[in-house]
Amino acid sequence: MRILVTGGAGFIGANFLNLLVPRHPEHHFVNLDALTYAANLGSLEAVANRPNYTFERVDLCDFSALRAVFAQHKPDVVVHFAAESHVDRSITGPRAFLRTNVEGTFNLLEACRELWPPGQGLLHHVSTDEVFGSLGATGLFHEETRYDPSSPYSASKASSDHLVRAWHRTFGLPVRVSNCSNNYGPLQFPEKLIPLLILNLLERKPLPVYGQGLNVRDWLYVEDHCEAIWVIINAGQNGRTYNVGGRSEQRNIDVVKKLCLLIAEESGAPEAELVGLVRHVPDRPGHDLRYAIDSSRIEAELGWKPRESFESGLRKTVRWYLANRAWIDSVRTGEYRRWIELNYGSR
Ligand code: NAD
Ligand code: DAU
Repeated sequence: MRILVTGGAGFIGANFLNLLVPRHPEHHFVNLDALTYAANLGSLEAVANRPNYTFERVDLCDFSALRAVFAQHKPDVVVHFAAESHVDRSITGPRAFLRTNVEGTFNLLEACRELWPPGQGLLHHVSTDEVFGSLGATGLFHEETRYDPSSPYSASKASSDHLVRAWHRTFGLPVRVSNCSNNYGPLQFPEKLIPLLILNLLERKPLPVYGQGLNVRDWLYVEDHCEAIWVIINAGQNGRTYNVGGRSEQRNIDVVKKLCLLIAEESGAPEAELVGLVRHVPDRPGHDLRYAIDSSRIEAELGWKPRESFESGLRKTVRWYLANRAWIDSVRTGEYRRWIELNYGSR
């Protein structure tokens, strides 16, 4: 198969390619990425020179460049990771989210429709549980849960999900959608909670906790997410949606405390000193209280389940960041420093 991966230089896309390119020399993987601030080609050093891997720098919003890549590589399968993905950035600057997540997905759908005869090909659309909005203290998101997005990010992802399903119903485009909970693991850009906390802990900087830290997220180790996508591509049904989660709900404040303990254990720092870095800062506007995923469909129909517990995955993640200071330095550019000032300077 020829598999085109959009956003393959980002966090989840790079983990997906690092996992699958070496494992499947019989498939050719094309990584199409615009290389925004969130991308890092250094994340793909292990696969960059493999004969079954090609990189194409293309912006999804440049339709003629996108068509040219489709015409050249003629993918059988497209895995769509590319997106603007950070909720806080969607609050300070929503335009890029509408552009990439909505217009970019529309262009991709049109490129697929142009290349593939009716009923052929497969577009796997990688989406998020944030499209469902917020849960109260109980309950789980199911595949049929009504969409109720809160942030510009989640509204743009909800729009992209609707476009993908509409292209299936109207044009018969073979599509599959997965809605996944919060990922963590190696190669995650340190704007997201877990890598931001790890880096701040290593440098003894304040640990910003929005509000009281009582918001709950369902955490999934990134390789478990990648395996879920691969199972859906190989054994899922067209037109079907699969919820993917870790059955691992954590309050933010508990994530912070677990990280303090782990960094203390792994680096020898005194735990009390690390816990003392916690700072409660003004909350995120429209902050969803709780996410929790019911993954029973993918578990029952496709036999997938996560391999890592939160504890084992978090320790692996901490060890990865401790061992990869060069990667950390490579993503902490001037742009990164500007973001930290913009988001946290006035909190
Ligand atoms: P990321 O921000 O780390 O990476 C996004 C990648 O997309 C980057 O490499 C970037 O250069 C590329 N990109 C952005 N705009 C582009 C454009 N116009 N054209 C081409 N490439 C472009 O994101 P991530 O965390 O790896 O998330 C990947 C996907 O998974 C997203 O669609 C996101 O909504 C979804 N998702 C993420 C999580 C999570 O916890 N991170 C959970 C569920 C779903
Ligand atoms: O649920 C899936 C989503 O998870 C993905 O679709 C998004 O792409 C991904 O970014 C993630 O969104 P969140 O907003 O949940 O992740 P983030 O890491 O930004 O925040 C996790 C929680 O931690 C959230 O409740 C906000 C809080 N937080 C975050 C940051 C960055 C803090 O308390 N302090 C912080 O500095």
